Amino acid sequence: MLAREFFLAQEFYWVNPAKLPTPAEWVAVRRIRVKDAVNLIWWFGKTEYPKADNRKVLQPYSESMKSLIRNGYKAKKRPSGHDISDHFGKDNGGAIPPNVLTIANTESNSRYLRRCRELGIKAHPARYPESLVGFFIDFLTDKGDLVLDPFGGSNVTGAVCESKRRSWITCELNLEYLNGSLARFEDGPLLSRSTGSLPHTLFTEI
Ligand SMILES: C[S@@+](CC[C@H](N)C(=O)[O-])C[C@H]1O[C@@H](n2cnc3c(N)ncnc32)[C@H](O)[C@@H]1O
Repeated sequence: MLAREFFLAQEFYWVNPAKLPTPAEWVAVRRIRVKDAVNLIWWFGKTEYPKADNRKVLQPYSESMKSLIRNGYKAKKRPSGHDISDHFGKDNGGAIPPNVLTIANTESNSRYLRRCRELGIKAHPARYPESLVGFFIDFLTDKGDLVLDPFGGSNVTGAVCESKRRSWITCELNLEYLNGSLARFEDGPLLSRSTGSLPHTLFTEI
């Protein structure tokens, strides 16, 4: 259905090496599967050419690439038969990243988690690492752009947008998650579970 409305620009694979051994029955109990550690991410655009710039997400060169740039590269055919031109040895400020993002999801002592613990609020169980969200914000937006996260959860998107000077809007069905998400912001008005219902200012303050 998404592909009928939008254009699939690219698929990404998020590898989380810290993923727990699940599905538990198969992996940890019966020991007949290895753990699932890859999440598929679909990048859809409203047009065939959505705004993006891979120069904004360059990664540090490997040591071998650095030495190749330092010592010069002689254009030649690779064993595979591919012709690699001498442009290959040019310093472009970093390596173009692959569509495989290896990011461990190991947050355990963040301000968000501490505040949730203090206030007896249930932390969101499926939070994304900030650097995963940050990768796409850097890649696809500029400072001042507006980012919408329709499934905000703990609103890691909003927090990353603040740090990267983007505006943001988030939607979240579960009011407890929404309330907890305010812990990500310096002056967020947090309610503990014991204080009862959520204030309407929750919505206006964001
Ligand atoms: C995987 S979580 C998002 C986690 C988030 N990226 C984070 O790092 O905290 C998806 C969230 O979408 C919310 N959700 C599901 N359907 C929704 C809807 N129709 N409108 C708004 N939120 C929805 C769920 O309550 C859940 O918290």
